[in-house]
Amino acid sequence: MTTAEISIDAGSLLDIEAVMAVMDDSFDAAFGEAWTAPQCAGLMPMAGVWLTLARRGDEAVGFSLSRVVLREAELLLLAVRRDAQRSGTGRALLDAFIHSAAARGAEHLHLEVRDGNAAVKLYSAAGFSEVGRRPAYYRGSDGQVFDALTLAKSIHN
Ligand SMILES: CC(C)(COP(=O)(O)OP(=O)(O)OC[C@H]1O[C@@H](n2cnc3c(N)ncnc32)[C@H](O)[C@@H]1OP(=O)(O)O)[C@@H](O)C(=O)NCCC(=O)NCCS
Repeated sequence: MTTAEISIDAGSLLDIEAVMAVMDDSFDAAFGEAWTAPQCAGLMPMAGVWLTLARRGDEAVGFSLSRVVLREAELLLLAVRRDAQRSGTGRALLDAFIHSAAARGAEHLHLEVRDGNAAVKLYSAAGFSEVGRRPAYYRGSDGQVFDALTLAKSIHN
């Protein structure tokens, strides 16, 4: 799958350094949404978890981390390096998540996103809608807390 010169492919635990480089560049520490390397590396080998990378040439510029359990799939993380944003890579990774989740048998998709994150617009445009709110779910670098929205979308295989 290709968007302009971006390719979207499966990743693995071997890509953890590239994932963390994108993570550190893309997420603003003020909001407390990023994961640590041990959190990512601990989850990746688990059943039902898959990593998708967006590459420009050999270089990773974005990734998504997802999990499927029976008919439910969750988008755990989605990030694109700042210098590669606003050119369709986030949407391409989200589309890949939706297609891959369907291929793995999922019928319901969900994700958590900080209330106020620009990504909400991306998710809404892809058909996700708000089904819940978790108060004070994220804690930013200065101790400020932010609600998480739970967004969901049904798909039909
Ligand atoms: C959210 C994120 C992955 C989007 O990646 P991206 O490659 O820029 O996304 P796209 O170029 O596909 O954008 C698709 C649409 O989303 C919306 N959007 C994305 N970023 C936006 C921003 N900063 N402000 C307003 N709208 C935005 C727009 O509607 C955009 O379409 P447009 O560019 O035609 O206006 C990226 O901004 C990111 O990594 N953010 C930090 C990490 C994060 O918060 N991830 C989401 C929670 S896990």
